[in-house]
Parts: sequence; C-alpha cells; structure tokens
Amino acid sequence: MSFTIAQLSDLHCGQQFFLPDLLERAITEINDLRPDVVVCSGDLTSHGFKDEYALAKRYLDGIECEHLVVIPGNHDSRNVGYVHFEELFGTRNSVLRVGGVTVVAVDSTEPDLDNGQIGRGRYGWIEEQFAEPADLRVFVLHHHLLPVPGTGRERNIVNDAGDAIECLQRAGVDLVLSGHKHVPYAWRLEDLFIVNAGTVSSSRLRPIATRRSPAPRSPPGSPSCVRNPPG
Ligand SMILES: [Fe+2]
Repeated sequence: MSFTIAQLSDLHCGQQFFLPDLLERAITEINDLRPDVVVCSGDLTSHGFKDEYALAKRYLDGIECEHLVVIPGNHDSRNVGYVHFEELFGTRNSVLRVGGVTVVAVDSTEPDLDNGQIGRGRYGWIEEQFAEPADLRVFVLHHHLLPVPGTGRERNIVNDAGDAIECLQRAGVDLVLSGHKHVPYAWRLEDLFIVNAGTVSSSRLRPIATRRSPAPRSPPGSPSCVRNPPG
C-alpha cells in the first residue's frame, strides 16, 4: 500500500524574500502528485500580519487535497498573528487519522519568540493521540528537533528537544516533519526518521540549501523521502 504525504514549509508570504513563482510551481507539482495528505509546517507569513495570512490562504486554497494539515511557525506568531491563523486555518493543534496513518500536528511557537517549545504539559496528550493502532505515526511541528547542518550557529531549536524526542519515541512515532531552518535535511535517530523541509518560496538560505544539502537517506523499513525543490 502506498501513502503519499507532500510537505511544504516556510512560505514567508509578504516578505521581500518571497518568491511567488516558486510557490505556484510547488503547488502545481503537489497537485500533480495527488498526495493523500499535504502538510504545511509553518511560517506562512513574515510578520503574522493579516494581509500576509490572506495571501498565504489564497495559495494554499489552490492545493487540491482533501487532507491539508497546517500549523503556525514563529513568524506567524509575531504581532499576535496566531489570532489570524485561527480565523483562517482553525485550530493550531490537530489530529488527523486517514488510511491507517495518524498525523499529530502541534504549534511549537510562543508569541514573538523565535525559539520552539513543545512543553512537558503536552507530552501526555501527544502520547494519547498516538495510542490508537496505526500503520504510520507522523508528528508535525515547525521548529527543528535536531540541528540542521549548513545553517550556521545553532539557534531556535526546540527548548525541550531532548525530552520531546523521548516522548515521541515512547509514542511510537515513525516520522517527524518540521521546517524553520530553510535547509532540507533528514536524520535517522534509532527508529525515528526526522525530516526537515527547506523553504519552498523564500530566497533566504535557499541557494545554500540547494548547493549543499544531501538527498534524504531512507533506511530500509522507514518511510521513503523524496526532496523536490521547485525552481
Ligand atoms: Fe521559522
């Protein structure tokens, strides 16, 4: 049985670095792929402003997939932007169960901070959501759980990354999808496959990402991962 998840991240609509042609091309490629689920892992906007959200919504409405999972990134939580997120996209945390796959997506942002946070208070809830039988368990957050090579000095990683990873391992999670760093990379940590998407439509760090990032390595038994940068 094949099950396809398409991920896009770090759109950054409204910023001077925003490249609309790339986003349009990526959405065309996603629609051609006909995925079962599409994940947008945050930073839809640059400043969390309402007009930036409206622009991002217009683009994401062009995705032809019944199951679209969207979470905010740190840029989206600036200037009380999470209010606009909730108005346009609904809840900031969600659980999706489809085709034997469970996708738990959480908001790892704090207002006006660049750091990420899951928080001990949510570990029990996360494990509960993954407790039901599933063929594949997928966890989605904006911030990176492990350092991403080629991105300079480490910063803004999830504050409680160690405990959060342990929580995900207890919960039997197979795949983590994140963004934030603009550079694609994939790590395997024991049975956990951790995939960081690059930016889909921002020029920030994009040339570096294209030049130096290796193709994701999918060990036997893990979900296979294909990187497809538009442009
Ligand atoms: Fe970010």
